[in-house]
Amino acid sequence: MTAPPVPTSNRHTARRAIVTGGARGIGAAIATHLAREGAHVAIMDRLPADQTALACGGIAVAVDLTDPADTSRAMAEAIDGLGGLDVLVNSAGIFALSPLLDIDVAAWDAMVDINARATLLTMQSAARQMIAGDGGVIINLASMAAKSGGAMEAHYAASKAAVVALTRAAALEWGPHGIRVNAICPGYVLTEMGAATRTADQVAEWSSRSPLGRLGAPADVAELAAYLASDAASYITGQALNLTGGMVMH
Ligand SMILES: NC(=O)c1ccc[n+]([C@@H]2O[C@H](COP(=O)([O-])OP(=O)(O)OC[C@H]3O[C@@H](n4cnc5c(N)ncnc54)[C@H](O)[C@@H]3O)[C@@H](O)[C@H]2O)c1
Repeated sequence: MTAPPVPTSNRHTARRAIVTGGARGIGAAIATHLAREGAHVAIMDRLPADQTALACGGIAVAVDLTDPADTSRAMAEAIDGLGGLDVLVNSAGIFALSPLLDIDVAAWDAMVDINARATLLTMQSAARQMIAGDGGVIINLASMAAKSGGAMEAHYAASKAAVVALTRAAALEWGPHGIRVNAICPGYVLTEMGAATRTADQVAEWSSRSPLGRLGAPADVAELAAYLASDAASYITGQALNLTGGMVMH
């Protein structure tokens, strides 16, 4: 591991955390935030993550999370590199727009393989380690689409509803082993996800749906993730927490 960042709090001192999808966007913000609070971080991504890992003083593990064997290999490598595991954050994911009638089997599988199946597989690897150890925390990135649906994004919404269901089942099964499992359901967060199809007019219209009048930032998500990973959240499990600026209230 390279020079760690100067901790801004000791909330996560010596905690070992894996962040999938940490090369950029929300995952990078979470990895950086956890590292600033003292965590040792491993970033698992298919994109080069060396820069983010360097900023975190952590390690980068290349992986294609749609490949179950590669996912298992990468989880073992990351856990070995960290010397154990206390926190897993599943942030890797994809998004696509498509009319419901045009979603074919290939598009469905591509969406579900990374957003839902990879979440199951990393959770299983993490939980085996955590059950054998002192428990831990798992945080899954779902979406407000899991609760509200979403026209033109049925396969994305379904994959994120699966993430919420996995979160609840895991919280029930693994709570007795000292493992807390929660999901975060962000609204619109300005990252590279969806940037190719996003217009300035859409950003203005989406912002107006929030009583706070703005969209989310990766730092908003990182604050909640760091809290959920901390002992301050020790009685919170099985939840799908909205982070939507008030766009979703259930
Ligand atoms: N940005 C938003 O508005 C928003 C809203 C709600 C939920 N989310 C969820 O938050 C999470 C992070 O989103 P983001 O905005 O940071 O997206 P992003 O596209 O910026 O980052 C996603 C990361 O996942 C990685 N990834 C994708 N497929 C992978 C694979 N097969 N193997 C390994 N890594 C892979 C990408 O390389 C990328 O680094 C996602 O799960 C997303 O669905 C995002």
